[in-house]
Amino acid sequence: MNKILIANWKANPATLAEAKALFALENKKNIIICPPAIYIPTLHATRYTLHDLGAQDVFWEAGAHTGQTSVAMLKQFGVTHVLVGHSERRALGETDEMINKKLKATLTAGMIPILLIGEQEKNDAVRQDILIDQLTRDLEGVSAEDATKIHYTFEPAWAISTTSGNKAESLDNIIAGVEMMKDILQKSFKLQASSFKMLYGASVNGENTQEILSRPELSGAVVGGASLRAEEFKKMVEITAKL
Ligand code: PGA
Repeated sequence: MNKILIANWKANPATLAEAKALFALENKKNIIICPPAIYIPTLHATRYTLHDLGAQDVFWEAGAHTGQTSVAMLKQFGVTHVLVGHSERRALGETDEMINKKLKATLTAGMIPILLIGEQEKNDAVRQDILIDQLTRDLEGVSAEDATKIHYTFEPAWAISTTSGNKAESLDNIIAGVEMMKDILQKSFKLQASSFKMLYGASVNGENTQEILSRPELSGAVVGGASLRAEEFKKMVEITAKL
């Protein structure tokens, strides 16, 4: 499998037993499972070692920070990737300055940040400004070498499947958004566009995986709701493995 599927379980499933069952299903390379942090040590201890473990969040320091989890704690349990800047965390008050610190801490620890970028409300006229603003602030002080390690995910928050009836952004707009992001990155870091790994997230499911991930501009997808539906996710893995 060359393209990447990242499963963002969010605050699901309700029990460790269900998490273990889901985790065991798709044991393939280039699948990154991001469970709730409390399940990570147990899942890490299972024999399923082909797919990678990701975290949904991290804090940039250890010490007197009640409720937080440091990079070193995650690394100890085999975490290789960290979601940074998810819109659900931004909506809770996470600022670009905090995202920037999380991104740098993750990179310094040798893990790969999956940086999520995109607008909260649909408004094509301001999309480019929002992408420029988020990327510039989130990547402040990140070296060009580190910038090429990040998985950049275009994820328009309004298209996330949690609200029933939501659909993925149109394919043309997904590609246009990803191209905008690449252009911004290329100019900031003075590197070729092909140096950056671009992904899409929001309402990717069994029906649209083929269409979306066939596009050469995309290296993968972040999947929320559908990654918890075992049969559907299995189908998505099979489709992706053939691309
Ligand atoms: P979704 O969620 O696939 O359910 O739209 C994606 C995400 O929030 O990362």
